[in-house]
Amino acid sequence: MPTHAGNSRAGIPEEFRGPRRRGSLAEKRGHRSSVYALVAERRKSDGYPPQQKEQAALRIIAAQRNMDAGITVGTLPVGTEEKEVPALIERRQRVEDDVQGSKILMVDDSADNLRLLTAVMERGGLVPRPVTSGKLAIKAAEANPPDLFLLDIRMPEMSGLEVCRRLKQNERLRDIPVIFISGVQGSEDKVEGFRVGAVDFVSKPFHDQEVLERVKTHLRLKRLQVELASHNQRLEQRIVEQVKEVAASQLATIFALAKLAETRDDDTGQHIERVQTFARRLGEGMRELGLQAAQLTSTFIENLYQTASLHDIGKVGTPDAILCKPGKLTPEEFVEMRKHCELGARTLAAVLERHPDNQFLRMGVEVARSHHEWWDGTGYPDGLRGTTVPLSARIVALADFYDALTSKRCYRSPISHEVTCRMIQTGSGTHFDPDVATAFTNLEGEFHRIRREMHDRNESA
Ligand SMILES: [Fe+2]
Ligand SMILES: [Fe+2]
Repeated sequence: MPTHAGNSRAGIPEEFRGPRRRGSLAEKRGHRSSVYALVAERRKSDGYPPQQKEQAALRIIAAQRNMDAGITVGTLPVGTEEKEVPALIERRQRVEDDVQGSKILMVDDSADNLRLLTAVMERGGLVPRPVTSGKLAIKAAEANPPDLFLLDIRMPEMSGLEVCRRLKQNERLRDIPVIFISGVQGSEDKVEGFRVGAVDFVSKPFHDQEVLERVKTHLRLKRLQVELASHNQRLEQRIVEQVKEVAASQLATIFALAKLAETRDDDTGQHIERVQTFARRLGEGMRELGLQAAQLTSTFIENLYQTASLHDIGKVGTPDAILCKPGKLTPEEFVEMRKHCELGARTLAAVLERHPDNQFLRMGVEVARSHHEWWDGTGYPDGLRGTTVPLSARIVALADFYDALTSKRCYRSPISHEVTCRMIQTGSGTHFDPDVATAFTNLEGEFHRIRREMHDRNESA
């Protein structure tokens, strides 16, 4: 940074002065056709009577339907039909095993019905929990949620429909499937049953096997829903991680460009990193003091940290003879040097035009353009005054000033921390936003420590 002797504001460098993986479609088609081929093969070669052949075909098609619903066994290539049967049986067996031991809360005011249903469930490998009233059912479910409810509709005290309504209002119980089982013949209760959230309806007198199969079907469906939800959650998590990764690599690229620009006049230092750190601490410090707190959200402060690296990006357009001049700049050179603000802002604004909703780029433009503005309106390039200077730029202005003054330059020695602090205090309300200066005063010691820890290669620690 060039020197600027003869400055009317003694001691202030001129730069700071104002004017679930599924198979492919082809694979699935291949898979499906291979199952049908198997059925056809069986029809031809097996010596089954026609009725049994049909049943065998239906069993295989049912298995296929399960696979289509998501109970996949993986995709088997066409031509491996003989291998499919054990795979299907194995998968079906696994799903069957999955629902074994499921708890079924059965609610019926008839003890005979409960005894009968208990026997049916036990025969099917399920764990029945019979209760004789709606109130008891809700109490039992709250204490130990079942995997499925089997509810009678007509009961004294509280009807099955009311029990179902209450279950659906309970956050812990609302997702447990409810099947009504009732002797009611009209369709009104059935319709109402579905309305209040039931998944199925069984008429009394019921067929043992039918009740069991319906119960197991809904247990399997519920299990698949849970699997799907957890799969979706994993997927969402993966997307979030990938977005983070992309964002991190973009920020790294931006930082690399900022560093590249900095090497033209300072190839040993950590000026950019320190300005970033100081800007973030000032933002946090202001928020802790309740200053501009509404604007200083976590996202704002994170963007502030990242965009602070871009404050001098426009210096890539400043000629070497000016940027690295060890002596005083001529007025013409000074005008040229000041152009880095507009140049940096213009470059970032061109990118912003293509991504107008990007808050990071928007702040980048503010910081690059306005980090040399003064609170009293005597800064450059626009002579903005007070809060018309964007908050991000007001903060970076102080962070940049502190770091530049306490750093060695080719045309001057570093200014001490103490002197720099005094200059900042004096500049509160003229050069600097008083709120930012107040936060700095609170953080002076920390700034001094950071300045020593993050020292340049040409400085001693
Ligand atoms: Fe600058
Ligand atoms: Fe700077």
